[in-house]
Amino acid sequence: MGVGENAYTDKIMKVLILGGTKFFGRHCAEIALKQGYQITLFNRGQTNNSLYPNVEKLVGDRIKGDLVALQGRKWDVVIDTAGYFPNLPDLVRETAELLKDAVSNYVFISTISVYTEFQANGDETLPLYPINQELPQEMNAQAYGTLKAMAESVVQEVYGERGLIVRPGLIVGPYDNTGRFTYWIRRIHQGGEVLAPESPELPVQYIDARDLVQWIYQLVSTRKMGIYNAVGPKYSLKLGDFLATCQQVTDSSAKFSWIPGEILESQGIEPWQELPLWLPPQMQNTFACLSNSKALANGLSFRPLAETIHDIWQWDQVEQLEYASGLSRDKETAILQLLSNSISISPLLPTT
Ligand SMILES: NC(=O)c1ccc[n+]([C@@H]2O[C@H](COP(=O)([O-])OP(=O)(O)OC[C@H]3O[C@@H](n4cnc5c(N)ncnc54)[C@H](OP(=O)(O)O)[C@@H]3O)[C@@H](O)[C@H]2O)c1
Repeated sequence: MGVGENAYTDKIMKVLILGGTKFFGRHCAEIALKQGYQITLFNRGQTNNSLYPNVEKLVGDRIKGDLVALQGRKWDVVIDTAGYFPNLPDLVRETAELLKDAVSNYVFISTISVYTEFQANGDETLPLYPINQELPQEMNAQAYGTLKAMAESVVQEVYGERGLIVRPGLIVGPYDNTGRFTYWIRRIHQGGEVLAPESPELPVQYIDARDLVQWIYQLVSTRKMGIYNAVGPKYSLKLGDFLATCQQVTDSSAKFSWIPGEILESQGIEPWQELPLWLPPQMQNTFACLSNSKALANGLSFRPLAETIHDIWQWDQVEQLEYASGLSRDKETAILQLLSNSISISPLLPTT
């Protein structure tokens, strides 16, 4: 097959989605339906089970090894969104081996957390967490990276060149159940004095789930398998520009107080979780500066940041979910009050 040639021009692509009802997988399902693909979902039927009444739903439980519903069927591609299961590599092996002759391609949603060392502009060859080790017993960032790296190696072993492994950084968009990107949009919309971490110059990378899914289907359609970092945008985005765009989109009069990182650390603020997009100093200029050259060369494109923010904002105003991430207003106020005499408050947008 030639580069760019669509393997599915003459037939409807049959897609099996393992998961498909929460956030990223939900976009996999929605976009597949919009593209006219024929989809099947496989999950326990517990999360948003009323979605897609006309779609085939197979029920099973990967943790219990209940995969009977997948037996004796054929699809063109399977998308595996499995994330935090304690024995992720074993679960991925079970589905990968069961489906080996039932699908042409296996897509595994991995993460940039598989890298042990980050370098500015680091590509897909950065070192990974070692895979020849016991399964981690406790879930933390290292365990997450290790489990994903182990699962990647299973997909490579079973599928070889038929496997597609995508390594996203922060995935954002409507349905995002983590609330990380959403924290900033919601907080800035509320207005007032907003605690902003460290410096407007901090780098930010993210990917809109919808851009990622569209690109994955494009890769599958053109049979461009392999391993790809999936981070955006195309240009080098800074935190100050991100917050300013949130301010513009939500038409907010928020003012930003940039609080030095050492003060946030001394106040016990948890990077990434309590202040999403803020990283500890040793990870700045590396984690959010990975190379996306291979993905760009293979068709990844990005909608404007303002569109992503707008769509999340609209969705958030309807859903009003509670999130584990984000800084409480009490904590924010306490830190701002503590420092009000020594930190200057500056609006990001020029005042007219
Ligand atoms: N968010 C980020 O910034 C980020 C960054 C990098 C990578 N990632 C990766 O992106 C993926 C995101 O996935 P998502 O949660 O949004 O996917 P999703 O497919 O939308 O939701 C998870 C699905 O798994 C199903 N499920 C849960 N336990 C199951 C079980 N024991 N057996 C069978 N199905 C089960 C759930 O349905 P039921 O409950 O009905 O079973 C649900 O449909 C993860 O792999 C994550 O590691 C995320």
